[in-house]
Amino acid sequence: MAKKVFLTEDEIPRQWYNIQADMPTPLLPPLHPGTGQPVTPDLLTPIFPMSLIEQEVSQERWIDIPDEVMDAYTIWRPSPLYRAERFEKLLDAPVKIYFKNEGVSPAGSHKPNTAVPQAYYNKMAGVKRIATETGAGQWGSALAFAGKLFGIQIKVYMVKVSYEQKPYRRLMMMTWGADCVASPTNTTEAGRRILALDPNSPGSLGIAISEAVEDASGREDTNYSLGSVLNHVMLHQTVIGLEALKQMNKIGEYPDVVVGCAGGGSNFAGLAFPFIRDKIAGKKMQVIAAEPTSCPTMTRGPFAYDFGDTDKRTPLLAMHTLGHDFVPASIHAGGLRYHGMAPLVSQLVLDGLIEPRAYHNLDTFKAGVMWAQTEGFIPAPETNHAIAAVMEVARQAKEEGKEKTILFNWSGHGLVDLAAYDAYLGGKLTDHILPQEDIDRALAAIAAHPVPPKR
Ligand SMILES: Cc1ncc(COP(=O)(O)O)c(C=O)c1O
Repeated sequence: MAKKVFLTEDEIPRQWYNIQADMPTPLLPPLHPGTGQPVTPDLLTPIFPMSLIEQEVSQERWIDIPDEVMDAYTIWRPSPLYRAERFEKLLDAPVKIYFKNEGVSPAGSHKPNTAVPQAYYNKMAGVKRIATETGAGQWGSALAFAGKLFGIQIKVYMVKVSYEQKPYRRLMMMTWGADCVASPTNTTEAGRRILALDPNSPGSLGIAISEAVEDASGREDTNYSLGSVLNHVMLHQTVIGLEALKQMNKIGEYPDVVVGCAGGGSNFAGLAFPFIRDKIAGKKMQVIAAEPTSCPTMTRGPFAYDFGDTDKRTPLLAMHTLGHDFVPASIHAGGLRYHGMAPLVSQLVLDGLIEPRAYHNLDTFKAGVMWAQTEGFIPAPETNHAIAAVMEVARQAKEEGKEKTILFNWSGHGLVDLAAYDAYLGGKLTDHILPQEDIDRALAAIAAHPVPPKR
């Protein structure tokens, strides 16, 4: 069989898939942090364009992709579907492994799939500048690229530990004309508050989100943009899974197991949601979301109402969370260091449609190096979590003597993350097993929030 399955440009889906139309349990509404009542659009219009707010709450199953976005998508889409035969051979298990290579985008990950439409809708709304946060730098660089396409100035608050570990991501952002600073900064109230408590704070996505939201709320010309977690981000990413369905169909395949790594949930959702649609309709399949043991949001965090950011500026979202002031260990998979999880993914976990699993830092790098030494491409540290999950599925298939077809999202390449590989190969990385006291301490911070009703 061929190594790769391609689609032509006119086979790129022309609509995104909105899983809200098919979910067995509808989402709980985001709540206003002050009143505890469901948020109304007027709370969000200072920082988001109305078109994205509409997508956030839409119940329509299919949402048209604008022509300008389709045009930009053709820079790297459709992305190829690969069969990982060399890796299969190494694992020596009765599995076929397919992966969707989202590392082919200009920024090197799935993030431009939503950066482009977000920049486009902001442009249409007359916005001149967007403030955002970034963990590993993948999202910041994707939005820098998309901002340049649509003539929008981008300001990125980059989590300090990643800013220091990944200077080349900052340079990518600068090359695309964006401004990137290490968060926490002393230019926002939120940043100053954190620095007063801990001048050496490594930062976190929760803190960087607070800074970017504060920046956007304080300026008329500026909106805010989030690279994961929100419903419209999951929506835009479904272009991945919709392409993958067509590609699998072309070769007469359908996965028994779909896998993705999950930080805020977007690349996982992007690949998995179109398949979960079939699962809701009765198809038998396993869907696995892989997270780090050092930030075990779905496997150890409760489903609760919590803020999306550390400084309590966002609405309360019903999601799996480790508490908004939880600061994860400084692992290199910066994109997975987030205290919460997309409400859509969280609800589907509760409904038993998604199985979360957590992986140790060293196991994920071991998986990534095995991958690089067989398939060639060097994965992003986040992606290594998905590969570790694929290996576990393969091991189980071997033990059970069952044949399995696995499809996973190769969410990005690791060429700008080689410092992480340097640390791993030099024996400097360790596992981070989170003590229960740390989780309990962080969860105490959300004890006063409304409790999601049992349904
Ligand atoms: C390559 C890569 N994979 C995965 C993630 C995790 O984010 P999400 O769960 O939103 O896909 C990131 C985030 O930065 C990333 O850069």
